[in-house]
Amino acid sequence: MNLIITKDYEELSAKAYEIVKKILLEKPDATLGLATGSTPVGLYKLMAADCKKGEVSYKNVKSYNLDEYVGLGVGDEQSYVEFMRKNLFNHIDIDLKNTHLPDGMDADMQKACDRYNEMLANAEIDVQILGIGGNGHIAFNEPGTSFDSVTHIVNLTEKTIEDNARFFDSIDEVPTKAITMGIANIMAAKSIIILASGANKADAVFAAVKGKIDESCPASILRTHKNATFIADIEAASKL
Ligand code: F6R
Repeated sequence: MNLIITKDYEELSAKAYEIVKKILLEKPDATLGLATGSTPVGLYKLMAADCKKGEVSYKNVKSYNLDEYVGLGVGDEQSYVEFMRKNLFNHIDIDLKNTHLPDGMDADMQKACDRYNEMLANAEIDVQILGIGGNGHIAFNEPGTSFDSVTHIVNLTEKTIEDNARFFDSIDEVPTKAITMGIANIMAAKSIIILASGANKADAVFAAVKGKIDESCPASILRTHKNATFIADIEAASKL
């Protein structure tokens, strides 16, 4: 795994975009794996600004997101689909038909998981963007999740609910379940960029980069990927 330590969040976003832009210029019909959360927002702003300048087009790009809350979907402000529209899709020339997120609104959640797994099996993600949870989670794969997991329903841990409460009016509004790509789906990407910013990620970054490769830190598996890049700012990397 390549490790890049940046002086701040701005440089972290720029480094991530450098890699993404290269892929998009080489392959205008690339397939992107996308994440929500605060960390990739700087990257998404750079993607949007460059698209506006006409440097990069997303007309032939497809995207697959990592996860969605169960019970939230289009029209729900806190849903991940709305997050993606607000922070990226509405600002680039991507066709919304080519954007995919797991369906948190299906009455039969197992069917929704199976459908997403099938879609992913027929796609090849050129670059998967990831953030990391304070407990080392990737997507909503919490510590203890099998490295062989595929798209599944998770009960969110108390820590993740607390971490995500900042996006809601109150902690009671945070959904308790999510539908998430599994670790095996993530590892199938041709390349992976994982981003970590801020001191609250320092323990997770240490566990992912220097700890044992095991299921207690889901992000540690990325060290076995043939083309993964970990980009951490100096605060997130402070325990390395
Ligand atoms: C989001 C996701 C999560 C976040 C992680 C970090 O789609 O899958 O794993 O990447 O919780 O979130 P932030 O970036 O808000 O610190």
